Amino acid sequence: MSKKTVLTGITTSGTPHIGNYLGAIKPAIEASENPNFNSYFFLADYHALIKCHDPERVARSTREIAATWLALGLDTDKATFYRQTDIREIPELTWILTCQTSKGLMNRAHAYKAATDANRDAGSEDLDDGVTMGLFSYPVLMAADILMFNADIIPVGKDQIQHIEMARDVAGRFNHVYEPLFTLPQAQVDEETQLIPGLDGRKMSKSYDNTIPLFCSSDELRSLINKIKTDLRAPGEPKDPDSSTLFQLYSLFANESERANLRRQYEEGIAWGDAKRELFEFLDAKLTAPRTRYNELMNDMGYVEEVLHKGAEKARAYAAPLLEKVRIAAGIRPLTYVPSASVDQDDKKKEKSEEELARIEEGKRRAILKQVQHLIDRVVGADDKGAAAVAVVEEKTAEVEQLKKKARQKAQNELDLLKEELAGYL
Ligand code: TRP
Repeated sequence: MSKKTVLTGITTSGTPHIGNYLGAIKPAIEASENPNFNSYFFLADYHALIKCHDPERVARSTREIAATWLALGLDTDKATFYRQTDIREIPELTWILTCQTSKGLMNRAHAYKAATDANRDAGSEDLDDGVTMGLFSYPVLMAADILMFNADIIPVGKDQIQHIEMARDVAGRFNHVYEPLFTLPQAQVDEETQLIPGLDGRKMSKSYDNTIPLFCSSDELRSLINKIKTDLRAPGEPKDPDSSTLFQLYSLFANESERANLRRQYEEGIAWGDAKRELFEFLDAKLTAPRTRYNELMNDMGYVEEVLHKGAEKARAYAAPLLEKVRIAAGIRPLTYVPSASVDQDDKKKEKSEEELARIEEGKRRAILKQVQHLIDRVVGADDKGAAAVAVVEEKTAEVEQLKKKARQKAQNELDLLKEELAGYL
């Protein structure tokens, strides 16, 4: 069985936090170690332009996210790691897919609906107020990201499931209208990592402003952990680990026995201050080595850039030939394009009469001869026709030898006919 392709992108509009790490980056890096899968991970910087119009922030986030994946040990020989905007084929595919996407489908996209609902709630006359075409077409760009690599499995958060379904719809439509070139992708949602709590106990998310940056300094980490909400239980009073954000964050980094050990301390009434210190010391120890590597990488962007370029090259080696097929399927072809003989063309050939075939052959022959007529004229006009014929054939032979395959076939045909025409002199 051929390997399945796993693909996921991270929008470059923020600083990676612990929720991103546990929910997306860590499982993706682990999956990329599995030799049964091909992995494609990318920085979705075209997507960043949809929701973030601060260029410094987009650029900074792109550096931070790239350095984060590398600092956490992503092996770029195993996974294909690239920046979306380095793959020129993606925007081109986006347009071709846009022409196969019904507007009605996009009207139902969550991000767009949320914007129009907000306008309606605010009593705005124009429901599309503040909606850009980028936001509206966001799912098509995402479909192109996925279909460009014929990805099978897309690990995402719950909020993205609808986008994967839309990518399936668009792929299905293309396959039906033109040629079945695209794999229908499937979303993969890990329930456990959907619930990483932030400082206030709600899901850790940029939009709630409750995140812990993954590679903040030790001091900052301590002060953020000190802000985590706890209840009012006094030291010595038993505490419920399962409803405690401190315990949950600890658990997500801990092994079985570390977890059981801390659970016992909660039940025995650990003071919240001590629970915070435990979490800080534990996380800080886990993050020290990758943080050091992260800081080194942040100071060596030339290296990171190089890694991304290599990744883009690998990614384009897949994307470019697929896009070529897509273009041909849709009718975007070189003017000289001739479809390779298919079964039904062979059938058509059979139906043609001998006479018709002879006429076609003669037409082709004349067309080719036209290309070499000047050479024939040269021989006919020469004093020593034998020597001229030999010279002309040698010249043409040398030319054929230098050409690439396709052009070579054309020149070879010319050479063959030239020899036939000059046979009397040779
Ligand atoms: N839209 C995704 C997000 O905000 C990021 C993304 C862009 C993505 N393209 C993708 C995820 C393709 C998976 C596959 O989280």
